[in-house]
Amino acid sequence: MSKSFVVVGTDTSAGKTVVCAGLFLGFRSLGLDVGIQKWVSTGDPFGFSKDVQFVLDTAGLKRDYFPGITERHLNPYSFVYPASPHFSSRLVSRRIDLKEIRRLWKEYASLMDVLIVEGIGGVMVPLDERHLLVDLIREMRLPVAVVVRNALGAINHSLLTLSALKMRGIKVLGLIFNDAFGCNMDIKKDNVRIIQKLSGVRSLGIVPFMSSIRDYEAVFRDMAKALIKKL
Ligand SMILES: Nc1ncnc2c1ncn2[C@@H]1O[C@H](COP(=O)(O)OP(=O)(O)OP(=O)(O)O)[C@@H](O)[C@H]1O
Ligand SMILES: [Mg+2]
Repeated sequence: MSKSFVVVGTDTSAGKTVVCAGLFLGFRSLGLDVGIQKWVSTGDPFGFSKDVQFVLDTAGLKRDYFPGITERHLNPYSFVYPASPHFSSRLVSRRIDLKEIRRLWKEYASLMDVLIVEGIGGVMVPLDERHLLVDLIREMRLPVAVVVRNALGAINHSLLTLSALKMRGIKVLGLIFNDAFGCNMDIKKDNVRIIQKLSGVRSLGIVPFMSSIRDYEAVFRDMAKALIKKL
């Protein structure tokens, strides 16, 4: 059975895609077959997730990079309108079938050593009128890594996210602090300290602003090694 986890964020634009791309390179550099999946994407005019495309482009791979993998496996649902999945899907009267997502995840995961799933926005985002992203993660019994948008507001967003995950018994593999955002360095450093202290969840690493992710492959290899041990 392959190892799989969800990269969730403290908010939309926290840096989930950038971290997924880095980890994808990191796992590959360990000689592992790694997959990337985005269950639902929105704001995609061409019917395919720009986030998944970014990860594949970073690794220099095509959508059919692995036998048996289709675009549906990479990105089961894609919507044009840039909004929460429940809203973007309702606009085009296309229901998001959670069973279908589980089926595609299972098929994909069975072919890979590691399957990275990128979350959608923050963890309390609704997929339809009844289910939040966090509900699906719990039902699928997947662990998560939390990308923290390390700037003002990070303490509140991180602790709320971790409490929503803990309440549902979801295993948290660790925190990944994304330092790409404008904020005083003293505050960023203290965020890393206080969030770990108050939550009891450990950091898996700090991601700096990167003009090229490939230059940081070693950073992500270490993160991938730490994750493998916890999966
Ligand atoms: N460490 C970084 N270095 C350079 N640019 C970054 C970094 N982290 C994030 N960015 C940039 O910030 C923006 C948001 O990051 P990203 O797309 O990874 O967020 P996300 O959490 O995946 O967002 P979404 O909720 O839309 O999926 C992107 O333009 C990305 O290139
Ligand atoms: Mg993204």
